[in-house]
Amino acid sequence: MSQADAAAQVDTSKLPNVTDVTAANITEYVHQVNASCPDDRTRFIFKSMVQHLHDFVRETSLTSEEWMTAVKFLTDTGKISTDLRSGGPEFLHRASTLVDILNNAKPPNATEATVLGPFFTDDAHDIESGGGIASEDKGDYMYVYGKVTDTKGNGIPGVVIETWETDGNGLYDNQDPNRDGPECRGRIHAKPDGTYSYRAVVPVGYSIPGDGPVGRMVQVLNRHTFRPAHIHMMLKAKGYETLTTALYLKTDKFLGSDVVFGVKSSLAVDLEYVKDPKAALSRGFPQARPHHALHYDFVLATPEEGANAREKLTLAGGKA
Ligand SMILES: [Fe+2]
Repeated sequence: MSQADAAAQVDTSKLPNVTDVTAANITEYVHQVNASCPDDRTRFIFKSMVQHLHDFVRETSLTSEEWMTAVKFLTDTGKISTDLRSGGPEFLHRASTLVDILNNAKPPNATEATVLGPFFTDDAHDIESGGGIASEDKGDYMYVYGKVTDTKGNGIPGVVIETWETDGNGLYDNQDPNRDGPECRGRIHAKPDGTYSYRAVVPVGYSIPGDGPVGRMVQVLNRHTFRPAHIHMMLKAKGYETLTTALYLKTDKFLGSDVVFGVKSSLAVDLEYVKDPKAALSRGFPQARPHHALHYDFVLATPEEGANAREKLTLAGGKA
């Protein structure tokens, strides 16, 4: 189709006839142009986004140079993104934690959710409670155990805990270009009474990529690029909301300044140092040496309980 034919098919009769765009009328003009979007939710989101962005430009008296810096930043995030990086630090850095909080609010007595992060994979092996997720040379021994209950304290049967963590070098297995299978990750099947345990390694904190645009932006703001040591967990059970969360080591110096704002105090844990070397053997570790133990009991919410919590947050304007 020629350009002229394509142009002839466009109906301009319902568009606003604005030929003199000014600072005073541009926002309303954009609203009118977008008003024919047939999807209510999309139209609503775009109207609010345009309003806030235009207000932001006016409030800050944004210069052309500053605007081009922002455009270059977004261009660079696109250029540097890969399957691994695009899901995490480069694009999801700023708003994702707030989106996560608003969309995964739980009742006060249920375990809090936190960001999924970019390192989840769906190829973890199924492991019975009491098994191990890490090879022998991957880090210091850590034994993880506890119970999964409902909000009334009853053990939940059939819980599956997807868990993944860094090794002793602060790296996830999928950051290794020679990865040949899951390492330091597993799909733990808890016991019928909700109790669970597994052998892992003490996770080590890590920096988000410092060579990308987000890393550079964080440095411009005179902030560090580190996440405190943590172990990710995603708990699933029939009749309950999936809980995506993580447990953070209280001793980590970055606990209070996580670069992606994922830490919640209810998810910060102390490790018990178990000196008796025989205890490691009794928990299934191959060598008799001291180990660390992480005890955490999870509380899952039903879909109804979760929906009530999110409704309360919405009624509070997303600021409760
Ligand atoms: Fe992580």
